[in-house]
Amino acid sequence: MDTEYRERSLQYWERTHEEQDYDRDSIRVDDWLEPFDDIIMGTTRPILDLGCGGGNDTLYLINKGRQVIACDQSERAIQRIRKNFPEVMETKCFNMLDGLAFADASFEVVIADLSLHYFTGKDTSFIISELQRILVPGGYLLLRVNSIYDVNHGAGQGREVEPHLYESGAGTLKRFFDEADIRRFFKEYKIEYLKEETMTRYKLEKKLYRVCVRFEKGE
Ligand SMILES: C[S@@+](CC[C@H](N)C(=O)[O-])C[C@H]1O[C@@H](n2cnc3c(N)ncnc32)[C@H](O)[C@@H]1O
Repeated sequence: MDTEYRERSLQYWERTHEEQDYDRDSIRVDDWLEPFDDIIMGTTRPILDLGCGGGNDTLYLINKGRQVIACDQSERAIQRIRKNFPEVMETKCFNMLDGLAFADASFEVVIADLSLHYFTGKDTSFIISELQRILVPGGYLLLRVNSIYDVNHGAGQGREVEPHLYESGAGTLKRFFDEADIRRFFKEYKIEYLKEETMTRYKLEKKLYRVCVRFEKGE
């Protein structure tokens, strides 16, 4: 990715996490992971929350008694996670564009909630291949990404840098997926669940895809 986009994204998210000075009690957990509770409860390994932000999903997993490794590019987000969730097993601050800082086949379950839609096609494919690398064969990736119908949050707005990838007002990149995009990006995985839906966590409704894919190689 262009280093300017990378730098702007970091600044944007550091600023955002600085402004949202939330504590544990104010974090709203939504129920999107519930259909996957068998998967979440079935692993004996820690679960990776990739692009954890304020920790909505980290909290969901902690409430289920799971061991969590929470990661983000934002130092501020990671500091807040440590303060709000002392139970977190580990935190790591790194940029996904540099690869995922874990050994091959480290995880049975990875969660990437609203964190994989900020990249060019090339970078998205790279990060997805890295996810494949750190998952065990048969491992699951649970994710949500923007839908092309997410007009309340920028879909179709700003300069189109690539098909379905826009430069937002803040000068950062935002991708909006349709079903064909998801099937193409995750062609190496088995798609177990794929559904477009509306999320009400934010002030304005958000259209997104909820997805569960399984890395099957080696089975
Ligand atoms: C919309 S927030 C989602 C936070 C959380 N997963 C949730 O659903 O509430 C996106 C998060 O992805 C992180 N992120 C974006 N690009 C990243 C990158 N290149 N490397 C690591 N984290 C990144 C941001 O810092 C931000 O915290």
